[in-house]
Amino acid sequence: MMDGGEIAEEVPNKDGEDLSLKKKIFVAGATGSTGKRIVEQLLAKGFSVKAGVRDLDKANTTFSQSNNPALQFVKADVTEGSDKLAAAIGDDSEAVICATGFRPGWDLFAPWKVDNFGTVNLVEACRRVNVNRFILISSILVNGAAMGQLFNPAYIFLNVFGLTLVAKLQAEQYIRKSGINYTIIRPGGLRNEPPSGNVVMEPEDTLYQGTISRDQVAEVAIEALACPEASYKVVEIISQPDAPKRSYQDLFGSVRQR
Ligand SMILES: NC(=O)c1ccc[n+]([C@@H]2O[C@H](COP(=O)([O-])OP(=O)(O)OC[C@H]3O[C@@H](n4cnc5c(N)ncnc54)[C@H](OP(=O)(O)O)[C@@H]3O)[C@@H](O)[C@H]2O)c1
Repeated sequence: MMDGGEIAEEVPNKDGEDLSLKKKIFVAGATGSTGKRIVEQLLAKGFSVKAGVRDLDKANTTFSQSNNPALQFVKADVTEGSDKLAAAIGDDSEAVICATGFRPGWDLFAPWKVDNFGTVNLVEACRRVNVNRFILISSILVNGAAMGQLFNPAYIFLNVFGLTLVAKLQAEQYIRKSGINYTIIRPGGLRNEPPSGNVVMEPEDTLYQGTISRDQVAEVAIEALACPEASYKVVEIISQPDAPKRSYQDLFGSVRQR
């Protein structure tokens, strides 16, 4: 952890690179189960964080270190349009990590509003404030129909409510055409438990089952910031106990751009 809010001068990542080149990161969906871990890991690695949240009171109770000067909360509802989001991201964020996901409720359009248009709003906001690095937490199976997984129970389940995976795929396609330097991370089923295996990383439309700890998803998102090999890529991740331990440079480098 940092002391007194100072950003560490040299913060080597798992591959020995200097992560501190990226100083302030905006995290959308920061009070979510994965977003919270992303914020905590960023702080632990010496970044400053602008945590985009819907509810400031919730933010204050979610983070034990809410008085850490390197952590700033800003209101950021992704459905409220790109003007407000641009103001929230500001001109001092170097990259945006998006860990939003609709909260189940009565609104059948919520996935479309949050996971599609909300993400599109964030990308547009990045353009306005000249942020050119965008990391999205998406999901395996978003392109399940094209993968021949139309009858995969997970694909059916996740689309029954508001076509969630289709909404996410639409947002991914928007990002890929936007010109922004993106890394789209598609995890398998998310677990709250600590990692129980090593990360397996595959190209888009490969994995159709498997799970991964949210801690590892957060780690992959942050490592993507430092790895040039992660740029303009879609990667799918799960973890497996018997998978070999590989560096992130190797993992990202093994997935080809399409
Ligand atoms: N669950 C799985 O097994 C699984 C598998 C693969 C991929 N994923 C995807 O991985 C991502 C992270 O999942 P998770 O389970 O960690 O997320 P989560 O705990 O459900 O958190 C979702 C976050 O999105 C925020 N959010 C919702 N609507 C918003 C809006 N209109 N504007 C701004 N923020 C909004 C929530 O804010 P509040 O805290 O204010 O509610 C929360 O912070 C999601 O995109 C999810 O679809 C999940």
